[in-house]
Amino acid sequence: MEKTLILVKPDGVQRCLAGEILARLEKRGLKIVALKMLRMDRALAERHYAVHREKPFFNDLVNFITSGPIIAAVLEGEKAVESARQSMGATDPKKAAPGTIRADLGINMEHNLIHGSDSPENAATEIATFFEPEEILGYTRDIDRWLTG
Ligand code: RTP
Ligand code: MG
Repeated sequence: MEKTLILVKPDGVQRCLAGEILARLEKRGLKIVALKMLRMDRALAERHYAVHREKPFFNDLVNFITSGPIIAAVLEGEKAVESARQSMGATDPKKAAPGTIRADLGINMEHNLIHGSDSPENAATEIATFFEPEEILGYTRDIDRWLTG
């Protein structure tokens, strides 16, 4: 089973779309195995978006992602990274395919509601940025424990 990190960005939380966004991913068979609400500080945002450090939009991106509370989740499922990216849609909501989260609900390139890891390797790094190992409750592992008492 693959894991991916998703963030409901400040616009998603502020617009009360966090439940809807998580529900869309859950309905595709991605299971929530870790979840928290937090406000990113600049150091965390700069670390999370380090690959974009040299981009002209970096400062705006960091300002936006630190502007309010976000929800971080680890989702687990088959091809979780690709599935979540498909459900998210393209970065620019105006170019995203109809039916995707960003196309249906996103406003613009900055206010695009959701982040999702773009590779299993980056997912592992990003998950470790937001969660301690003991905060990730492997569903499959836990249900085995519940069933066997
Ligand atoms: P994300 O990392 O947030 O999941 O989004 P993504 O993979 O679809 O897009 P990425 O290329 O990683 O860019 C990260 C975020 O930076 C903003 N961005 N602005 N003005 C621009 O040209 C531009 N390009 C990217 C977007 O908010 C994007 O989500
Ligand atoms: Mg990205």
